[in-house]
Amino acid sequence: MIFRVAAWLDSTKDLTSLQLPGTTANPSIGSRLHVFAVSLLPANGLGVSLDVQLARSTNSWFEGTNKTQIYEATINSVGTDWIVANQSVTLTIESDGVNTVQPGYIKRLRPGDQARVQIGVVNADGVAQGSTGTATLVISGDGLPNSTYGFNATFGIPTYEATYESIYAHESPPWYQNAKYGIFIHWGVYAVPGWGNTGSNESYAEWYWWDMNEGPSTSVETYQYNLATYGENHTYDDFIANFSASAFDPKEWVDLFDDAGAKYFVQVSKHHDGYAIFDLPSNVTQRTSVALPPYRNLLQELFDAAAQYQPQLHRATYYSLPEWFHPDYASLGFASWPGGNATNPYTNVTLPYTGYVHVDDYVSDLILPEMQALATMGTEILWCDIGGPNMTAEFASAWFNSAAQQGKQVLINNRCGTPGDFDTPEYATYGSVQTRKWESNMGMDPFSYGYNRATPEDEYILPERIVTVLMDIISKNGNFLLDVGPQENGTIIAIEQQNLRAAGVWIKSHSEAIFNTTYWTVTPEEGDYVRFTQTPDAFYITALSAPNSTLTVNSPVPYISGDQVTVVGGNLSGTVVPSQLLANGSLQLNVSDAVKNADEYAWVFKIAYDSEM
Ligand SMILES: *[C@@H]1O[C@H](CO)[C@@H](O)[C@H](O)[C@H]1NC(C)=O
Ligand SMILES: *[C@@H]1O[C@H](CO)[C@@H](O)[C@H](O)[C@H]1NC(C)=O
Ligand SMILES: *[C@@H]1O[C@H](CO)[C@@H](O)[C@H](O)[C@H]1NC(C)=O
Ligand SMILES: *[C@@H]1O[C@H](CO)[C@@H](O)[C@H](O)[C@H]1NC(C)=O
Ligand SMILES: *[C@@H]1O[C@H](CO)[C@@H](O)[C@H](O)[C@H]1NC(C)=O
Ligand SMILES: *[C@@H]1O[C@H](CO)[C@@H](O)[C@H](O)[C@H]1NC(C)=O
Ligand SMILES: *[C@@H]1O[C@H](CO)[C@@H](O)[C@H](O)[C@H]1NC(C)=O
Ligand SMILES: *[C@@H]1O[C@H](CO)[C@@H](O)[C@H](O)[C@H]1NC(C)=O
Ligand SMILES: *[C@@H]1O[C@H](CO)[C@@H](O)[C@H](O)[C@H]1NC(C)=O
Ligand SMILES: *[C@@H]1O[C@H](CO)[C@@H](O)[C@H](O)[C@H]1NC(C)=O
Ligand SMILES: *[C@@H]1O[C@H](CO)[C@@H](O)[C@H](O)[C@H]1NC(C)=O
Ligand SMILES: *[C@@H]1O[C@H](CO)[C@@H](O)[C@H](O)[C@H]1NC(C)=O
Repeated sequence: MIFRVAAWLDSTKDLTSLQLPGTTANPSIGSRLHVFAVSLLPANGLGVSLDVQLARSTNSWFEGTNKTQIYEATINSVGTDWIVANQSVTLTIESDGVNTVQPGYIKRLRPGDQARVQIGVVNADGVAQGSTGTATLVISGDGLPNSTYGFNATFGIPTYEATYESIYAHESPPWYQNAKYGIFIHWGVYAVPGWGNTGSNESYAEWYWWDMNEGPSTSVETYQYNLATYGENHTYDDFIANFSASAFDPKEWVDLFDDAGAKYFVQVSKHHDGYAIFDLPSNVTQRTSVALPPYRNLLQELFDAAAQYQPQLHRATYYSLPEWFHPDYASLGFASWPGGNATNPYTNVTLPYTGYVHVDDYVSDLILPEMQALATMGTEILWCDIGGPNMTAEFASAWFNSAAQQGKQVLINNRCGTPGDFDTPEYATYGSVQTRKWESNMGMDPFSYGYNRATPEDEYILPERIVTVLMDIISKNGNFLLDVGPQENGTIIAIEQQNLRAAGVWIKSHSEAIFNTTYWTVTPEEGDYVRFTQTPDAFYITALSAPNSTLTVNSPVPYISGDQVTVVGGNLSGTVVPSQLLANGSLQLNVSDAVKNADEYAWVFKIAYDSEM
């Protein structure tokens, strides 16, 4: 009897802490090997048999088109036979509301495997954008009976409303799903002291002000460090005058991000200290880099440089809703964001809040206009922090609508006080596929986003680990947002530049196995060592450390005897690697020393679907 594996994803959030620094910790340590409930069901039928698990309209469109809407189908292969390319299996949508302009296809599907297929449609003449009705998914192919599946759909891209439900229906657009790798930048006044405890009492350097105000009895000892270094009468706001940006060269930054192989960056526009590095109306705040030293619109300079020199980079911003010590946040404050004036922890004197402008309603008079200012500057992700009281539904609905009118797809994360479009584990990854889009963020520093002068150079993340963490994350539907912490003058330290560039050489060389790929539900990871990605045209096997002379893959990868497996990237890209199925069904690749020595960090092998049979 033939059995199939039913891949019901484990919805438990299977978070794995990243163990930096060094290369000894493996990204999957502590995670489970088996990521879903495996149940053996009798295969229901001979030949090719397809079961439509889900077909739906999405609110996204293919980038670079005149809003060709994406419909999505999830298909399980429940028969005994494979789908192969010469069957020309095609997926179309039939409906009075939309016409298929870009059919989906399945070139290969193994019994027990699942395909997620995108189909492009446009509204039929006279059908209003955002109207609803019924649609039918039709799957056809040579030697197959047509199968159909009816569902309710939205025709075209709807207009969002200022409600929780409406903005929750928004989802991460294709550019973001495909971009995989971004650079996070924590640069603000905290870079002036640029210090956080290291070792077992480590603290984020960008939390300096808060930690120092926590007094003498905390393990992080920022209170003591600040006293010894600056004395009792020096306040956090005194650092503003020393935030010089004197060596800030935004072209150098965006060129570095491109060299790193990143597809987007997320600049901190305002952290919890409330100091914004962009311009704001004078009735909102004057606690900005424009009204205060260094009297420059640093965010605008960065966005302009990106637009001019690296226009393919997507531009995005981090934004903290609360400010620790904003006097007008006191009525809303909670936990580590109490609001209200700071005191000098050494003298107990109540401190002014430099650049303060009184607002009656912090949410409508400060958060909302600040978010709107970032949208006007052209941010493509509003990467919020902390959440709390918010007008995110009002902001995001208007922003999604106006961006769509300009043909742009923008998104928000899950920290704007609403669920948002993606989740954001911090210095952590998931051990299994999460079908909701996610993005792991962490510093190149082992435990800081902002620059930390106390961190020894050899503790910064190494290129090998950047690559292996990236491949692990993307195999599970994540993106990787890796942070740099520039110094107060705008210098990104040499070790960060060097390691980003070294990883970037590898990433560019292996881009086809990274960008525009998706995860594999059956087995996203095999032990500590092998990860998988796929496109409609090929399947990629990535070994996270140097393979031995034989690499055995036990997962049921879509390999058919006779396939030519090739090397992706490195100095022998395209080389055919001898391959065969073992008696137990495992795939074995013979990896010569030449192939092994032709690459570094991680080794990628490709099963292409177009050359078969
Ligand atoms: C895009 O499509 C809309 C209808 O969906 C049409 O009105 C418009 O002219 C098209 N724009 C371009 C540039 O083709
Ligand atoms: C596809 O190729 C296989 C192997 O060559 C062959 O057996 C099969 O008949 C072909 N199918 C179609 C629909 O041409
Ligand atoms: C199967 O579906 C395709 C695509 O919609 C269509 O062209 C074809 O006529 C259908 N075949 C049958 C037998 O209904
Ligand atoms: C479509 O929506 C209608 C009305 O809400 C409902 O009765 C029907 O069951 C839905 N059809 C499907 C296939 O979900
Ligand atoms: C701090 O300021 C107070 C009040 O002006 C003064 O009495 C004290 O001596 C100052 N401390 C130091 C270390 O200068
Ligand atoms: C920027 O600041 C760092 C740290 O103080 C210093 O080492 C470096 O020389 C400065 N760079 C420039 C170009 O001034
Ligand atoms: C400041 O207040 C704390 C807590 O009330 C107290 O322990 C400390 O002695 C005070 N320091 C000064 C300089 O008054
Ligand atoms: C709190 O800060 C504001 C803004 O700087 C200032 O006007 C006010 O005097 C401060 N409050 C106290 C009690 O010092
Ligand atoms: C701030 O100024 C702008 C422009 O003059 C105005 O539209 C807005 O209502 C003002 N905000 C508040 C809270 O008064
Ligand atoms: C965000 O704002 C909405 C609407 O006011 C509110 O329901 C929600 O609780 C807020 N989120 C948080 C985390 O406070
Ligand atoms: C990914 O897709 C984008 C947009 O279609 C395209 O520009 C890019 O070249 C693709 N990248 C790879 C590695 O295929
Ligand atoms: C390579 O072979 C050695 C010796 O048999 C074994 O200990 C090691 O785990 C193998 N490495 C991989 C990645 O399979």
